[in-house]
Amino acid sequence: MKINFVDLHKQYQSIKTQIDDAIKSTLSQTDFILGQGVEEFEQSFAEFCQAKYAVGVASGTDALFLSLKALGIGPGDEVITQANTFVASAYAISMTGATPVLVDINTHTYNLEASTVEKAITKRTKAILPVHLYGQATYMIPLLKLARKYKLQIVEDACQAHGAISSGKKVGSFGIAAAFSFYPGKNLGAYGDAGAITTSNHSLYNKILKLRNYGQKEKYHHLVLGYNSRLDTLQARILSVKLRHLNQWNRLRIQHAKFYNQKLSTLNPFVITPIVHQNVSSVYHLYVLQVKMRNQLLRFLNERGVNALIHYPIPIHLQPAYKGLGYKKGDFPVTEQLCQNIISLPMYPELTTKEIEYTCQTIADFYQK
Ligand SMILES: Cc1ncc(COP(=O)(O)O)c(C=O)c1O
Repeated sequence: MKINFVDLHKQYQSIKTQIDDAIKSTLSQTDFILGQGVEEFEQSFAEFCQAKYAVGVASGTDALFLSLKALGIGPGDEVITQANTFVASAYAISMTGATPVLVDINTHTYNLEASTVEKAITKRTKAILPVHLYGQATYMIPLLKLARKYKLQIVEDACQAHGAISSGKKVGSFGIAAAFSFYPGKNLGAYGDAGAITTSNHSLYNKILKLRNYGQKEKYHHLVLGYNSRLDTLQARILSVKLRHLNQWNRLRIQHAKFYNQKLSTLNPFVITPIVHQNVSSVYHLYVLQVKMRNQLLRFLNERGVNALIHYPIPIHLQPAYKGLGYKKGDFPVTEQLCQNIISLPMYPELTTKEIEYTCQTIADFYQK
């Protein structure tokens, strides 16, 4: 058996006619830049996220960067985020000229906790950037309280968590702004790079609209220094089609995660299945286990056709690109231990019961060797 980590081909086949129509309509209208399809997608995505506004941009990284930039964050400022995330969460902070301040995460959820964040707050802190990692929403209430206490902004990194819920509300509706990635393999993925910012703050919304389009509101009238970071109309129309299926796709991911959990529960303590905080939901962008003998298991799975991966093998503070921040090995023990133990199993809506059973059986075979 050969099991892909994700299978975008299967997804395309299941919605081919709708996607092909969306592409054809863009080709015949030739409204490639900021066409009507962009605004239509922005409205439906804002509604999906329970936010007032959404702004389509070029990527999730730009969504984070432009949110921070619109908040006036720059050199001399600090933004707190977690040490175990995709590097872009930290890069976006660095791109503004501000300093990423890293903290360790909760052992069970792998997300930020208010008590650890509070210890990292200084006079220079301007914002907190929680990452809803692997698709699990961060428990936001304590972080919102903390932000209020210290007058800090919250920018959510929701790049992996389209549709996840924290205390009854969708991610993307908590921070002053939230960033989403539509990288092809995401729960909602474009056919290229794409991203969006959600916000319910009207003045921030207007700032971001200008920033993503050369600082202009009216063509050739440049009010502020801006960027070229627009969501292509073609991608927006593709995303509008896919957004209609997202709830169902997320339901399938959750169903697959439950089946994995059930099948793998007998392998404890060799295998620890994901733990979801009681006040939140996960949309399982990734299905991540903690396992014993991780590297050997990874090889064993790959040799038997199961494409398992690691998210992420090296934490931000130990990346050569961030040597300058001055962190060292041992600074974030939970994160560092996770990097040694975690493994991500194949996860996408079209995954079959047989494929999950085969993967779980292969893991069982490995520990019974
Ligand atoms: C947590 C996280 N933040 C930021 C990003 C950056 O998104 P993009 O690749 O669309 O720039 C990603 C996705 O790759 C991500 O997973």
